[in-house]
Amino acid sequence: MRVSIRDIQKMKADREPIVMITAYDATSARLSEAAGVPMLLVGDSLGMVIQGHDVPVPVTLEHIMYHAEIVTRVTATALIVGDMPFMSYNVSVEQALTNSARLMQASGVGAVKMEGGEYLAETIHRVTQVGIPVMAHIGLQPQSVYKVGGMRVQGRDLDGARQLLRDAQAIEEAGAFAVVLESVPAPLAEMITHKLQIPTIGIGAGAATDGQVQVFHDILGLFEEFTPRHAKHYAELGGVIREAIGNYARDVRERKFPAPENSFNMKDDVLAALQINGADEHAGH
Ligand code: KIV
Repeated sequence: MRVSIRDIQKMKADREPIVMITAYDATSARLSEAAGVPMLLVGDSLGMVIQGHDVPVPVTLEHIMYHAEIVTRVTATALIVGDMPFMSYNVSVEQALTNSARLMQASGVGAVKMEGGEYLAETIHRVTQVGIPVMAHIGLQPQSVYKVGGMRVQGRDLDGARQLLRDAQAIEEAGAFAVVLESVPAPLAEMITHKLQIPTIGIGAGAATDGQVQVFHDILGLFEEFTPRHAKHYAELGGVIREAIGNYARDVRERKFPAPENSFNMKDDVLAALQINGADEHAGH
């Protein structure tokens, strides 16, 4: 049985910190679930860490569906949240309904995530009304990187902070089951967390949110272009992998790999017959 949105909401009520991490493929999903993470996000951060773009804007619904199907298929207990990519839900409520349903039906995710606050409330309301749980995402919204002018902390000034409080209130009233707070000053994130009944999941939003989400590649040291301030490396797997591949390449060049234990043998009589036949055939030509 998978973790449900009710289980996630109960964790807030029980003051149990909620752990979430991104997953994009069988390896990241299996490892994260085995580590006991209850909620996995197939995020459009795959645009950066899988596809090699600088921003998530080029990611399409088909890309998310492809990765989400893998993540749901290889996991058994985690709640899988599928990210709605840029312009797959912002054109109209009808578009959001159609595409959220496509993502859910095609890939089996248990919820979708959408970037947007007050202005997205009507969409969130309609999508949740038809039975699709929505995780909202406010603060820094990476899909709006070109409008914002970079990956900037949000809600630092009075107007920005008040807008974020309105956004949080609006998406809760609209029916979102949880909300990601990205790059929000810690005191403001704490205020929002106390104000809302639904869980807040922070990334760059301090330690007082109900949970935390991180990008798989960021915390494992696999994304080496830069380390966001909000991320901590719990391992340096980039270096470990580079060294391992270097060792493999050296062994191949020095003919040390494959060793006999990595190779397959055959019966002596078959080999002998082959050699005799081979010699005969060779002699015949
Ligand atoms: O796409 C993503 O990975 C995200 C998280 C960083 C919250 O939206």
